[in-house]
Amino acid sequence: MIDESRVAAGALSRDGVSAEQALNEVRRLRTGDRPTHGGRLFAYVYDPAVPGLDDLAAAAHSESAHVNGLDPTAFPSLLAMENALVGAAGRVLGGGPGTSAPDVVGSVTSGGTESLILAVKAARDAHPEIAAPRIVVPSTAHAAFAKAAHYLRVALDVVPVSPDTLRPEPAAMAAAIGPDTVLVACSAPSYAHGVVDPVAEIAAVAAEAGVRCHVDACFGGWTLPYLRRLGAPVPAFDFTVPGVTSISVDLHKYGYAPKGVSVLLHRDAAGRAPQYFAYADWPGYTMINPVIASTRSGGPIAAAYATLRHLGDAGYLRLAATTRDAVAALAEAVRAVDGLRLMAEPESTVVCFTATEGGPDLFVLVDELTARGWHTQPQLSYADLPASVHLTVTASVAPRVAEFGPDLAAAVAAARATGPVRLPAELASLLGALTPEALTPEVVAGLAAGLGLGGGGDSTGPLPDRMAVVNTLLDAAPPALRERLLVEFVGLLQRPTWDPAV
Ligand SMILES: Cc1ncc(COP(=O)(O)O)c(C=O)c1O
Repeated sequence: MIDESRVAAGALSRDGVSAEQALNEVRRLRTGDRPTHGGRLFAYVYDPAVPGLDDLAAAAHSESAHVNGLDPTAFPSLLAMENALVGAAGRVLGGGPGTSAPDVVGSVTSGGTESLILAVKAARDAHPEIAAPRIVVPSTAHAAFAKAAHYLRVALDVVPVSPDTLRPEPAAMAAAIGPDTVLVACSAPSYAHGVVDPVAEIAAVAAEAGVRCHVDACFGGWTLPYLRRLGAPVPAFDFTVPGVTSISVDLHKYGYAPKGVSVLLHRDAAGRAPQYFAYADWPGYTMINPVIASTRSGGPIAAAYATLRHLGDAGYLRLAATTRDAVAALAEAVRAVDGLRLMAEPESTVVCFTATEGGPDLFVLVDELTARGWHTQPQLSYADLPASVHLTVTASVAPRVAEFGPDLAAAVAAARATGPVRLPAELASLLGALTPEALTPEVVAGLAAGLGLGGGGDSTGPLPDRMAVVNTLLDAAPPALRERLLVEFVGLLQRPTWDPAV
């Protein structure tokens, strides 16, 4: 049966449709999405559940949606709001007048990935004499570093983390630094497990080698300082740490702003200079871009500005306290269930757990939780780290936590009753024989169809309700094969909708 909520008309109709119909279509399509509000989605969204905040952000967004960040002299409103956001982020992260890092500067980017790409670009271009630049990252560093390395043709040196602490050894980071290293990076905290790397030690070895050190605080940069003020033992990870040269923090995460806003900070303007791109050697306007985009909407920046102004320091402190309590309750719910264990004691806003020996199949458990209205994020096994389940916890989860424990216990019981996924023999042998190179679009289409993965205009949607078989298949594949499978699969999803009327 066709699920109407997932089928869009072609965007260009012959005569246009009424404003009401256009909006209704968006609303109808949105009903097929996971719930962005209500505290039951533990990834992708950051919801503070503050009444009126969405309306405020939407109004600010619409005020500035058509303003173009391309030219700060034409639109000084945007420059003013951007500078205010950078100042706020610098303050939260230990910089600004009266601190040991008084000269902090920064830029507003579209998100964490862009901030990290630009941190790598600035580090690379600070050393034009290095022909084959390299960066050193822990294996738990966000995948966006790999993307930056790929886009910028910088080699990636990955340092494994300890399976016990989920952190890299500073000595191993030091050993990975060579003459061509332009950047050392670490996370505060890592996305997967919510663990804060030993930033001070890593920054010290980077400084000793004369190499920049970037702290990826995209996820936790807006909560860790508040959690510390609430008494949590958060180690120093910001500009108060000597050797930290740049930090990224996403306002569209725990700044609780709508999507499209991150801040990349540098300790000083000299550090930021190679981030810029300027070009005057053509007959059009001289282009000077601090970030990757040239034309960029003022909407997300204005929305973030209004969000920060409204919540204020006290608001963020309150939200951090609420989130901390929710994290503690969720962690307790995990501890209370036989067959599960926390990957790490929570030290930020992530709860991450895995199965113990003889515990339930995690991918079946994730499906059972979904069936009970809890949307968690399965993480595949990697090197000597087991598969796990990730929960990003935001303030909106707090009113829901009492319901989570019983549902988790019931989901574990159901997963045990179902038993682990057994891949069909023909799939398992196909997987054993597959190499990334042999994966043609046709093979993937066959595989996707066999797994019930659709994506066509006449299907019921791209994903089946139960994903355990798919996750088990991916888990059994090495990373290079996972990548190829998913690239081909997403390619299947990205097919144009043709409007017959035009
Ligand atoms: C630690 C960390 N760095 C970078 C990113 C990438 O951010 P974005 O998805 O905004 O590009 C994320 C996203 O979750 C993250 O958690």
